[in-house]
Amino acid sequence: MPNPPELSIIVPTYNESGNIPLLVQALTEALAGLNWEVIFVDDNSPDQTSAAVRELARANGRVRGVQRLGRRGLASAVIEGILASAAPYICVMDADLQHDERIIPRMLRRLKDRHDLVVASRYMQNASTGALSRRRVRLSRAATLLGNKILRHELSDPMSGFFMLRRGLFEGVMTKLSGKGFKILLDIVASADPAIRVTELPYHMKSRAHGESKLSVVAVWEFFSLLANKLLGRYLPLRFILFISIGLSGVGVHLAALFILHKGLAADFILAQGLATLLAMTSNYLLNNSLTFSDRKHTGLKRVKGLLSFYLACAVGAVINLAVSQMVFERGLVWWLAGLLGAGVGAVWNFALSSTYTWREDRPPR
Ligand code: GDD
Ligand code: MN
Repeated sequence: MPNPPELSIIVPTYNESGNIPLLVQALTEALAGLNWEVIFVDDNSPDQTSAAVRELARANGRVRGVQRLGRRGLASAVIEGILASAAPYICVMDADLQHDERIIPRMLRRLKDRHDLVVASRYMQNASTGALSRRRVRLSRAATLLGNKILRHELSDPMSGFFMLRRGLFEGVMTKLSGKGFKILLDIVASADPAIRVTELPYHMKSRAHGESKLSVVAVWEFFSLLANKLLGRYLPLRFILFISIGLSGVGVHLAALFILHKGLAADFILAQGLATLLAMTSNYLLNNSLTFSDRKHTGLKRVKGLLSFYLACAVGAVINLAVSQMVFERGLVWWLAGLLGAGVGAVWNFALSSTYTWREDRPPR
């Protein structure tokens, strides 16, 4: 065997057989002079992707494959691919030739130049999203905004599936990764020490050559769960249970206020509903302030700012509630389950935002 590789390129695959030889060819050209290997992690694709990998691997020592049986998932495939290699530098990319392999040598130089993580970004100067649909770009942008709030690092493209990192960074976070869904980069950054050195390189995304995208509604759902999980993981379950119980008490406050205002005092319905909503949010805030977050309780004038920020968290929860319930309702879920699912996800978000922003923990200065 020649020298062991310095750079492992990890490529998750599902039904990509047509792209495998093209990608290996492209990597061979782009990485001439580097000491690299590529590891395809395939979930036993019905189109025989793993067979295509083995065929190349028999003739080319740089090509390796991991074939997983009975499992699916981009993120967990990436994790297992990284674990199957020993190289000090790791690059993750898609198999579908959308990621421009020609910037890999530059990414590697940046990484070696005192960085822990280099992200290839579609959203910088000199970058573009290629043939992504308008809807996908909008979705991706929205996810980026939310993602950045969680990360404590300003990344232009935290949803990127194309990045390079040091093995040490990965080993520091690997036991904390959720391994679910598509958002492996987001998961790594959110789990890492905030002091890691991150940089981005722009690239122009190409359009898919063969096969089709697997990003689905499920992936979008998993993304939101991942974010909520990253925010929540630290407090579950007691705080969350308190928060939800108080939320339910808010429903009681709301209905009582609505009854008194609308039926008792004959106020206009929409006015009564608006006031009842405000009242319920205010009582939720006060109860949460003294019970759920008693260790970070707002006092004095701080309560005004706290209350306003709580209103805002509730508004975000409501928007997410509407978006989720509409999405599943349109896909044929029965109305009450759709309503419940929306309310549930909204509540999780409401809690996540309240605990990170409204009742923010004072972090020691870094
Ligand atoms: N092993 C395995 N298992 N691989 C998978 C699976 C799976 O369940 N699902 C998808 N892949 C592989 C695909 O074969 C491809 O190589 C890569 O993961 C990305 O999947 P695509 O289906 O091409 O995803 P995309 O192009 O829609 O999404 C890409 O862009 C997103 C941002 O817009 C990915 O790079 C995402 O990670 C990225 O967030
Ligand atoms: Mn793709």
